[in-house]
Amino acid sequence: MATLIQQLAAMNDPRHMQLVPTTPPTKRLVPPHIESLQPYQPGRPNDQLKKELGLERIINLASNENPLGPPASAIAAIEATMTDISRYPDMGGLKLRHALAERHQVFVNNIAIGSGSESIMANIVRAFLHGDDEVLTSQGTFIGLQVLVRAQGVKLNMVPLKNYAFDLDAIADAVNDRTKIIYLCNPNNPTGTIFTRDEFEKFIAKIPEHVLVLLDEAYYEFTADNPDFPDSMSYRLDNVLTLRTFAKAYAMAGLRLGYGLGHEYLIDFINRIKLPFEPNILAQAAGHAALLEPEFLVRTIENNKVGLSYLQTEFDKMGLHRIPTHANFIMLEMGTQERVNHIHETLLRNGVAIRPLAAFGLPTCLRITVGLPEDNELVVKGIQKALAL
Ligand SMILES: Cc1ncc(COP(=O)(O)O)c(C=O)c1O
Repeated sequence: MATLIQQLAAMNDPRHMQLVPTTPPTKRLVPPHIESLQPYQPGRPNDQLKKELGLERIINLASNENPLGPPASAIAAIEATMTDISRYPDMGGLKLRHALAERHQVFVNNIAIGSGSESIMANIVRAFLHGDDEVLTSQGTFIGLQVLVRAQGVKLNMVPLKNYAFDLDAIADAVNDRTKIIYLCNPNNPTGTIFTRDEFEKFIAKIPEHVLVLLDEAYYEFTADNPDFPDSMSYRLDNVLTLRTFAKAYAMAGLRLGYGLGHEYLIDFINRIKLPFEPNILAQAAGHAALLEPEFLVRTIENNKVGLSYLQTEFDKMGLHRIPTHANFIMLEMGTQERVNHIHETLLRNGVAIRPLAAFGLPTCLRITVGLPEDNELVVKGIQKALAL
C-alpha cells in the first residue's frame, strides 16, 4: 500500500503537490486505531438527489428528526441573540444548566451540556477510557458510540440483540475485569425497543459499582409516559450517566444541543475536558427558551402517537413484520436486503427518504421516522407501490 505522501504525489495535482515535503516522514502519520476507522460516507445532498430524481422536494424520514420544525420560542430566542454572536458564550452555560437542573430536580453540578449529546458522549469516552479499558454494549444500536470508542483505541465488546432488543442478561454476563463503560440505548435506535423497569433493576443489581453505565435516552420524551419505561433519572444511581438531547423531541437537530446528567464527580471530569465554549451561544439560548414552551413537546408527542398508530395499522394491513416501537421511528424487518433496497429506492423516487440499516448490522431491516400525517401517507402509498411492483 502506497504511503499517503506517495498517493498525493501520484495524484499529480498541484494543490496536493504543495503538501509533499522534500523529505518523506519516517513515522506513520496516524495511529493504527485511527487508520482502521471507516471514512464517513455522506449521503447524496438533498439538492443533488432532487436534481437527479427530478423531484421538487424530498421528505426526510431517515434521521429521526421532528417533522413539526423548530419551536417558535427557539426561533425567537435565536433572533434575540443574533446580535451577540460576536461574543463568546458563557463558558459555564449556566443559564441553560440552571433551567435543566430545575427541570430534573438536580444541582447545576449534575449537568453537562454539549454540542449535541454525541459531543458529551465523545467527552465521556475521552474522560474515562484509556489503555486496556473495554466498553460493552449491544449489536444493533447507535453507531456513534462505536466510532468514538474505536477512535479512542479502546476495545469494544458487543453482544447480539435478542428479539431486536438489548439483551441485558447477556450484557451483564459479558462484564469482565476490564469493562469500564456499558452503553445502553433506551429506547434503542434503530430498533425502537425498550428494556423495562423490571429488566433494568435486575440488570443494575448485577453490575459492579465501578462500572459506568451510560444510558442514552435520546428518545426519552416519546416514551416518558410509559410506566414500564425505566427513566434513569428516577433512580439517581452514582454509576449511571444519562444522555438526553434537544435534537429529537425539541426539534433542534441542526443546532447541536444535548445534555448529560449524573453524579457531580463524573460531570466534573466531563466538563473539564469539554471544548470551553460549546454549545454555541444560539443553541444555548434556543434550548433555554424551548424548555419554557411545554406546548411544543405536547404537540410533538401527539403527532408522533397519531403517526405511529396510523403507520402501525397500515403496516399490519400489508402483513409487514414491524418491531414494536417506543420512539419516533419504526423498524421493519423485510426478510432480505434486496427488499430493503427496493423499498428504499421506490420511496426515494417518490420523494421520501428512509433509512436502510445495513450500517447498523441489520441489512434486512429499514427504519422510518414518523412524519406529518401527509408524509406518513406518502410512506404507506410508496411501500404499497413497491410491494406491488
Ligand atoms: C441514540 C442516539 N443517541 C445520540 C444521538 C445523537 O444526538 P445528538 O444530535 O444530540 O448528538 C442520536 C441521533 O440520532 C441517537 O439516535
